[in-house]
Amino acid sequence: MMQIPIAKPQAGDEEIEAVARVLRSGMFAQGPEVKMFEEQFAGYCGASHGIAVNNGTAALHAVLAAAGIGPGDEVIVPSFSFIATATCVSMCGARPVFADVDPQYFTLDPESANALITRSTKAIIGVHLFGQPFDIDPIREVCDDNHALLIEDAAQAHGALCHGKKVGGLGDAACFSFYPTKNMTTGEGGMITTGDAEYAAKIRRFINHGQSEKYLHTTLGYNYRMTDIGAAIGVVQLKKLDAANARRQHNAGYFDRHLKAAGLVLPARREDCAHVYHQYVVKVTRECALPREDLMQALKTKGIGTAVHYPIPIHLQPVYQSIADNVACPVSCELAQQVMSLPVHPLVTDEQLAYICTTLRDVV
Ligand SMILES: Cc1ncc(COP(=O)(O)O)c(C=O)c1O
Repeated sequence: MMQIPIAKPQAGDEEIEAVARVLRSGMFAQGPEVKMFEEQFAGYCGASHGIAVNNGTAALHAVLAAAGIGPGDEVIVPSFSFIATATCVSMCGARPVFADVDPQYFTLDPESANALITRSTKAIIGVHLFGQPFDIDPIREVCDDNHALLIEDAAQAHGALCHGKKVGGLGDAACFSFYPTKNMTTGEGGMITTGDAEYAAKIRRFINHGQSEKYLHTTLGYNYRMTDIGAAIGVVQLKKLDAANARRQHNAGYFDRHLKAAGLVLPARREDCAHVYHQYVVKVTRECALPREDLMQALKTKGIGTAVHYPIPIHLQPVYQSIADNVACPVSCELAQQVMSLPVHPLVTDEQLAYICTTLRDVV
């Protein structure tokens, strides 16, 4: 029987060679690879500055903290995302304010965000969820009208396009993750991109012990640096990113054409955007012959891995129990009950795509 996992991180001889080169060089950290990766990644995104860090959560924490966001401040975040989109706000001592998402695209609903603006709002974090850009223009407008920063959480969207521009160059700053299941990886890792030199310098200081010159620590900082080992992998993975994304798009296109089944709602693609399908997420509605969990189990017995991204909206997570009493995010709540991700990663073959579609049609 075929076995098709929901994710399959991929590295080849080039990555192995790159790591070996760094290990032989003796420069495991703060060597030339990090700088090269920062420049190449920022260039790829059309941003003038790139700051490599040790994971995507650190990237989010750093962009907020370096902007001076702290106790008494509010940051609007979508409730339907990975937890780090909100915990980064709490890490600064500020308050995450939970907005709802659009039922079609699953990304931050500009009207919901606008309704939550207060005098304490310092930033809005939009998430390019599952590889699809969020609705950037109206959210940019809300930010501009209220002197709030626009932060892109691009952890799942390396290479996605919005009106012909790469994500990572659209907001005041953007944060990427290079966790192994992401569209590209460095093992663990993250990157911040921004077009603002002064902001970049503050972020760089924050991720390096608040150091403004050697052993002079002017602000509170952390050690969030990326290793040269990770950066060397990143340089190779970046070269492969467009081809890997093209394969994800090919796989998603196949599902779009062949996955029609009663009660399954296929993912919508925003106009004038390129979706890079970090995940291919369907909605399993009440009209489906099987409830979601039974469907996932049935697919598992046929060797097809699935996952739920994400089963609990962030405002209902126990960690936020004390601040989210009056939050209403009905779309996020409904999506958490309905979503199911199918294997769309670049290693899914045409034969496997056909198998997934026929198996799914057979079981529902
Ligand atoms: C939307 C989103 N934001 C932030 C993160 C955090 O990235 P990391 O796992 O590298 O800390 C992730 C990673 O899973 C994510 O999917």
